[in-house]
Amino acid sequence: MNILIVGDVYSKLGRESLEENLKKIKSEKTIHFLIVNGENISHGKGINENHYKWLMQLGVNVVTLGNHSYQNKQIFNYIDNVNNLVRPYNYPLDSPGKGYTTINYNGTLITVFQMIGTVFMDENNLSPFSMTEKLLEEVKSDIYICDFHGEATSEKIAFGHYFDGRIQIIFGTHTHVATADARILEHGTAYITDVGMTGPLDGVIGTKKEIIINRMVNGCKERFEPQDTGKKQFNAILVEIDDKSHKVTHIDTINNI
Ligand SMILES: [Fe+2]
Ligand SMILES: [Fe+2]
Repeated sequence: MNILIVGDVYSKLGRESLEENLKKIKSEKTIHFLIVNGENISHGKGINENHYKWLMQLGVNVVTLGNHSYQNKQIFNYIDNVNNLVRPYNYPLDSPGKGYTTINYNGTLITVFQMIGTVFMDENNLSPFSMTEKLLEEVKSDIYICDFHGEATSEKIAFGHYFDGRIQIIFGTHTHVATADARILEHGTAYITDVGMTGPLDGVIGTKKEIIINRMVNGCKERFEPQDTGKKQFNAILVEIDDKSHKVTHIDTINNI
């Protein structure tokens, strides 16, 4: 089974890049299961209902979110009515939406969940380690896939080693910069610290570069706007899992500019 996982899709150029690259990849390979991080898909901030529906039309199986989960308020109208939109599982208890989904794919149960980091991030989030233990205990599945949405590379790497062999795929999101450490860990987990962003290449992690430079050089707190013109990038991983043993056999990165 080939599982394609696409990093944070950012605004207009991200959507264009996703559509173009999906077409290309699907013409060369069969993709059986598709996961997209959509926390920045609507103008860089959250996901509106139209963009969620558009992802469903593209054939996306699961959409994961992150610290921008609730930034587009439209999400409160539909997050509890759909079964494949996943916000961080370790958000404070009673947060809207779900932290995981289990999908029956031709008789194989695939559970996709998200954890958000606690290092350099919101301190109200619960421990990703203890909450993952809880989830693995309570949710039975053939395949587990975790989107670790975190800022600190060390926290993601420690998490990867700690759950190595118990989760088939652990992929990092959030920094918007792809890392070069995709590999199968000692006990069989396919791991990457950050998949990277699918969106504008010329901004600063998605935002217009002038706004961020002005903030850093002159302290000007201008409103963030997405970089909606110029070059695009596409960052994803492709993981192969054996249909019978449910073990990972291969991980590749796809980084297109
Ligand atoms: Fe993001
Ligand atoms: Fe994020």
